Amino acid sequence: MKVTVVGAGAVGASCAEYIAIKNFASEVVLLDIKEGFAEGKAMDLMQTASLNGFDTKITGVTNDYSKTADSDICVITSGIPRKPGMTREELIGINAGIVKDVSSNLIKNSPNTIIIVVSNPMDTMTYLVHKSTDLPKNRIIGMGGALDSARFKYRLAEALEAPISDVDGMVIGGHSDTGMVPLTRLATRNSIPVSEFLSEDRLNQVMEETKVGGATLTKLLGTSAWYAPGAAVSGLVQAIACDQKKMFPCSVLLEGEYGLNDICIGAPVILGRNGIEKIVEIELNDAEKAHMQESAEGVRKTNDLL
Ligand SMILES: NC(=O)c1ccc[n+]([C@@H]2O[C@H](COP(=O)([O-])OP(=O)(O)OC[C@H]3O[C@@H](n4cnc5c(N)ncnc54)[C@H](O)[C@@H]3O)[C@@H](O)[C@H]2O)c1
Repeated sequence: MKVTVVGAGAVGASCAEYIAIKNFASEVVLLDIKEGFAEGKAMDLMQTASLNGFDTKITGVTNDYSKTADSDICVITSGIPRKPGMTREELIGINAGIVKDVSSNLIKNSPNTIIIVVSNPMDTMTYLVHKSTDLPKNRIIGMGGALDSARFKYRLAEALEAPISDVDGMVIGGHSDTGMVPLTRLATRNSIPVSEFLSEDRLNQVMEETKVGGATLTKLLGTSAWYAPGAAVSGLVQAIACDQKKMFPCSVLLEGEYGLNDICIGAPVILGRNGIEKIVEIELNDAEKAHMQESAEGVRKTNDLL
């Protein structure tokens, strides 16, 4: 199993590290445009192999796509991250050009690959890969909902004063501060709806904290976060590589599901060796449906900027 990660920055390197530590891939190629940067990150990570007990071989290359040839999975994290006060949508001007270029180079060298898009604004970047390449829709996956759901579970556990492993929940919709749709109605603690333990006000607070989860960290760190994003990507990569048939909310091209067409937005999917094996359509209540439609309008506005 060969995985390429484009962008050896904060998220790319963290993602490569988690993939290696989980020890399911034979090879990870890190590629960056900055001379020597990916080589340095790869060497540093390889020097953790004996300490962390993994056999995955990590190599770094400067913009040499021939080294990425025949990758089973390619992850795109290249581009600029947001700074405090910025929205993800403001990154489109620079990141659209980068993502288009990078995806075309990746596919030239790995025509059978599955692409995971991470660069922001992620739903629009995923849509761009659809529009600018011939890859079938099951092989283009946007990562956002897996991270947003992890942040949702963190906030729920905090409110419940419970360990995170007791909590389950999912965030669908657009990967933006206003677009996320945390499904509080369906969230549970050990199969019991969280509404049995938390007031509506507290649940609304959890929902708001989840939506600005990325912005909160960007303010604290001065740049966007990387540990949880890297771990979330590695989870998707592992589900595909190990044919786990696991369910994650991912940005996927919808063709009628959730009443939406010609848009990439977060919906639950089953991930396995073919990438997106199935889009799971769950019954939403009226408020959730309205929230999803509103979220889609926001994503379409950003898509129009393309
Ligand atoms: N989808 C999500 O949930 C999520 C989460 C966190 C960050 N992000 C996004 O991921 C992206 C990366 O964030 P980061 O914090 O790792 O940024 P970073 O600046 O640390 O790393 C980005 C890297 O991309 C490289 N790069 C730029 N142009 C390139 C090109 N044409 N080819 C190859 N490499 C190139 C840069 O040299 C840099 O090393 C940002 O757009 C950020 O907003 C998305």
